[in-house]
Amino acid sequence: MARIQIRGGRPLAGSVEISGAKNAALPILMAALLTDQPCRLAAVPHLKDVATTMELLGQMGVVISLGERSEVELHAAELHTDLAPYDLVRTMRASILVLGPLLARNGSARVSLPGGCAIGARPVDLHLKGLAAMGAEIHVEGGYIQARAARLKGARVVLDTVTVTGTENILMAATLAEGTTVIENAAQEPEVVDLAECLITMGADITGHGTNTITVRGCDRLAGYDYQVLPDRIEAGTFLVAAAMTGGRVRAANVRPGLLDAVLQKLEESGASIAVDHDSVEVDMAGRRPRAVNVTTAPYPGFPTDMQAQFTALNAIAEGTGLVRETVFENRFMHVLELQRLGADMQIEGNVVVVRGVERLTGAPVMATDLRASACLVLAGLVAEGDTIVDRVYHIDRGYENIEEKFGQLGARIRRLPA
Ligand code: UD1
Repeated sequence: MARIQIRGGRPLAGSVEISGAKNAALPILMAALLTDQPCRLAAVPHLKDVATTMELLGQMGVVISLGERSEVELHAAELHTDLAPYDLVRTMRASILVLGPLLARNGSARVSLPGGCAIGARPVDLHLKGLAAMGAEIHVEGGYIQARAARLKGARVVLDTVTVTGTENILMAATLAEGTTVIENAAQEPEVVDLAECLITMGADITGHGTNTITVRGCDRLAGYDYQVLPDRIEAGTFLVAAAMTGGRVRAANVRPGLLDAVLQKLEESGASIAVDHDSVEVDMAGRRPRAVNVTTAPYPGFPTDMQAQFTALNAIAEGTGLVRETVFENRFMHVLELQRLGADMQIEGNVVVVRGVERLTGAPVMATDLRASACLVLAGLVAEGDTIVDRVYHIDRGYENIEEKFGQLGARIRRLPA
């Protein structure tokens, strides 16, 4: 298995171009199932999860071609099957996003249950409850969700917990339902908004996206889309935290600064100077050691759970003690044990990690456990003395495009070791 080797100790400096957002690209690619017309998506990041999505859609009969400059063309003229098999779903939970579009377009869907994963139980009960409220008949049999509906009907769907992919599944299903669907306690994440904006270009009638109540008036058919994915706020945040940790100065280009508010506020609290332009953000730590910050994860516009591990790493080498509270997922502290191997002083107390900053970390072999946890190990490696080798890099490749090239351009000593 490929590994990444990092020799720490260099402040990062320079500019990094941020890719399209994984969590927006995946649902928008799935939305191609909603129409028999051709679709074109630009700024699609080169990631393992995107490849898995294309494989999944390809197996269903979607004709896909890759254009230049991160463009993807998709045409779901006819679907061969309504099956999302276990082999693909288990490598990517977001495969569940085929459920809503398939059911709406095709009248049936069979999707493997995603099952547990490294960051807690992550059930899909709310996806199913929402679609059932819209008239779908749903059974779980042999590990598969089997859903049917001659035509979905608009309904009031109240989500008990804010769920990003749950909101997206119901939103996509509702575009082709008969009548009006109101999604309450909807996720307000920018990636949900991006999906809604794309669906609107296809002819969907959606209002309220970006608030906690989304209203969808269903229609009979949708046209194709020609759309560009929004920039990845988590990738941007990861590079900016790396800048702060190394005492460096990094400009993240191609970002929407307004979507990074919660993260930039914490970076400022940690002592970084921040300069914001219309589509870029620069963090300058001017050689200083960051101060510890307290963070509590929450659905958007709160502090993103996908940035929790990176700030845990920042606190590891910061001045003072920081409390990191995780409220979105259970068991999302797998990275703590690995950071401890590098010499971090941190304890887990329930859903809080108490991090006492140390002056230095020491390089060691560590293991990536999930996507964001693996990114935090790279960040820790950038400041650790000596060599850190991160194993199970495939987790990083699920969500970060060319991570070693991008860090390398900023002056990091980082390379991929072949399997
Ligand atoms: C999405 C993101 C992921 C991010 C997460 C939270 C994608 C592809 N992934 O994941 O990067 O970390 O949002 O911002 O966009 N829940 C239920 N029942 C359900 C669905 C969810 O109880 O049916 C719970 C989950 O266990 C979790 C919480 O709701 O505690 C939020 O999860 P959710 O927003 O659904 O995460 P994902 O959409 O899987």
